[in-house]
Amino acid sequence: MPSTTASGEEVYCTLILNDAYLPGALVVARSLKKHGAKRKLAVLAVLTSISKDTILALEQHFDYLIDVKKLTNDNLTELNMMGRPDLLATFTKIALWHQTQFRKIVYLDADTLPLRAPDELFDIAGPFAAAPEIGFPDCFNSGVMVLEPSVNIYKQLLGLAVQGISFDGGDQGLLNIYFKDFSRLSFMYNVELYRTYRLYMPAMKHYMEKLTVVHFIGKAKPWDLKGVAPVDESAYASFYCELIGKWWAIYEDQAVKVA
Ligand code: GLC
Ligand code: MN
Repeated sequence: MPSTTASGEEVYCTLILNDAYLPGALVVARSLKKHGAKRKLAVLAVLTSISKDTILALEQHFDYLIDVKKLTNDNLTELNMMGRPDLLATFTKIALWHQTQFRKIVYLDADTLPLRAPDELFDIAGPFAAAPEIGFPDCFNSGVMVLEPSVNIYKQLLGLAVQGISFDGGDQGLLNIYFKDFSRLSFMYNVELYRTYRLYMPAMKHYMEKLTVVHFIGKAKPWDLKGVAPVDESAYASFYCELIGKWWAIYEDQAVKVA
């Protein structure tokens, strides 16, 4: 059961660095609520980098709007290697560990879509758990994480960030260096979907009922892909478009919008 004391509270949390990710953050909130999430919702935001309208929308959808300081990596070498120089401020994500008003956080990137509310993740013991990264499965993907805030851990992460220590130039490369011995979540909690890279579709079909959170990775984001056609005739491409359709249904469903 969720704790009733503020200090011991467990929350879902997402992060928004700029206005472009607002639709994603709203869908995370709406989807969790629609699926009966049993915890409150928090959003970390760099308030100086977002508009008044974005702030208003976040206030309407989340129980807690928490201002965080933007942390950027000046070294773009590795981000360029991934073709993602736009991820230069993802070090900001380490502010999660600074939120010691919460006991446990289930963090979801704003480009994820929860297909149900994964409340059971709050029962995971230990300071940190995450699901495998499809691009290199000995690593974890930092788009879905179960973590316990800690000033001590925060300081150490900040120490790495200010020195630019991250093998991919972003939060994921930094966090994988720090949490070498992470507890492994099932892939069901962070099914990374690329628009153009075909995942292992027979397995996807086999496990379909168990998929819990999908994560739209890469540059193509659902909010830019309204009504998009499959990139080819593969079963994967249709599946991807179906999920984009699901994302849009939640985005446009005023019935799940909260006052
Ligand atoms: C990956 C993760 C994303 C992270 C980025 C930078 O793309 O999916 O969450 O911000 O790497 O490390
Ligand atoms: Mn992401």
